[in-house]
Amino acid sequence: MVVPTYNEVGNLDELVQRIQQSCLSSGIDAEVVIVDDNSPDGTGARAEELAKDHDVKVVHRAGKLGLSSAVLEGFAAASSDVLAVMDADLSHPPEKIPEMFSKIQSGEAEIVFGSRYVPGGSVEDWPFHRKLISKGATLFARGLTKVKDPMSGFFMLKRSVLDGEKLDPIGFKIGLEILVKGKYSKVVEVPIHFANRKSGKSKLGTGEYLKYLDHAIQLYEHKRFWLSKYLKFSFIGGIGAIINIAVLWFLVEATGVYYLTAAVASFVVAATSNFVFNRIWTFRSKSEIKSQYARFLVVSVDGLFLNLILLKQLEEGLMPAIGITSDKASLFLIVSQLIAIFIVSIFNFVANSFWTYSADIKSRSKKA
Ligand code: GDD
Ligand code: MN
Repeated sequence: MVVPTYNEVGNLDELVQRIQQSCLSSGIDAEVVIVDDNSPDGTGARAEELAKDHDVKVVHRAGKLGLSSAVLEGFAAASSDVLAVMDADLSHPPEKIPEMFSKIQSGEAEIVFGSRYVPGGSVEDWPFHRKLISKGATLFARGLTKVKDPMSGFFMLKRSVLDGEKLDPIGFKIGLEILVKGKYSKVVEVPIHFANRKSGKSKLGTGEYLKYLDHAIQLYEHKRFWLSKYLKFSFIGGIGAIINIAVLWFLVEATGVYYLTAAVASFVVAATSNFVFNRIWTFRSKSEIKSQYARFLVVSVDGLFLNLILLKQLEEGLMPAIGITSDKASLFLIVSQLIAIFIVSIFNFVANSFWTYSADIKSRSKKA
């Protein structure tokens, strides 16, 4: 049982006592690993006291280094094959440990989450804004895991789940990180009642919400590698379209350049901006830039021709075939162009991924 602590001196005795009682009554041989970040309130010293006559191990760290890294250090210090994490403030009921453990022992699951959001689970009279934030954060993680309460800080797992994966301890959500990167096939949730903390104050500040967003986005990139790349690519493409129109307008209106010349110039400017942002953001490329830029321009020009061909096919082939009348023609043109843009974006994306930025894709997919 890994318990990260920062200023939890008022909760420690009851916590250790309840964990041990719960484990004793069900024959579980448990060790409590307290990972304390040099709490000013003397949690570390109190933990050492408890270690004298309980099955408690204490890891002392130099200062407040964060919850997730504390959990990972606790895993390293523990010697068991089954690991668990819980908060020190008695929000998580130690009485649920036997039920969670039995799921792992019976082979029903390799990870068990104590969940507030499955039938039977609950939270204690939370104010509306806390419920909203919690639900919003949980919703944002929907695409990452099917677990209903992946933000729960109360979970248990087989050590083998962690084999071979490098975990990034950013922010509070080490459980979510494990759900996304861990090696397992079965996960179950056990309902818990999340009680208000017994003593002391919460350490989850507003900064943690931003860290969570950053963390969740990185996990999406890890899990949905191609989708996240395509979305970034399309987003940059959308900005490129705005740049294209803005430059075109500027050249024609402010400098009086011939409009077709202006169109070519604005196309090159937009393609260049697309190239730079995709290099930095979408593909995080460090490869040689000149040939990459040339390839990107070739793909962009091909994409432009593909766009024209598709548009012509839709306008001259499809429109009469499905009998669009002339009063709907301008609407049909816009729909056709949107369809063409979508197809061209996929063409450009695939061509750039496997040609322009192929070296970067290869090295990144290997890591993922
Ligand atoms: N070692 C260490 N270092 N421990 C820390 C640190 C740190 O920097 N920050 C927090 N902790 C410990 C606390 O002492 C407590 O035991 C546990 O981590 C959770 O901290 P709380 O301050 O009680 O967090 P919370 O109640 O706001 O958040 C809990 O509920 C959330 C769901 O609403 C946590 O369980 C979150 O993981 C969970 O998402
Ligand atoms: Mn808490």
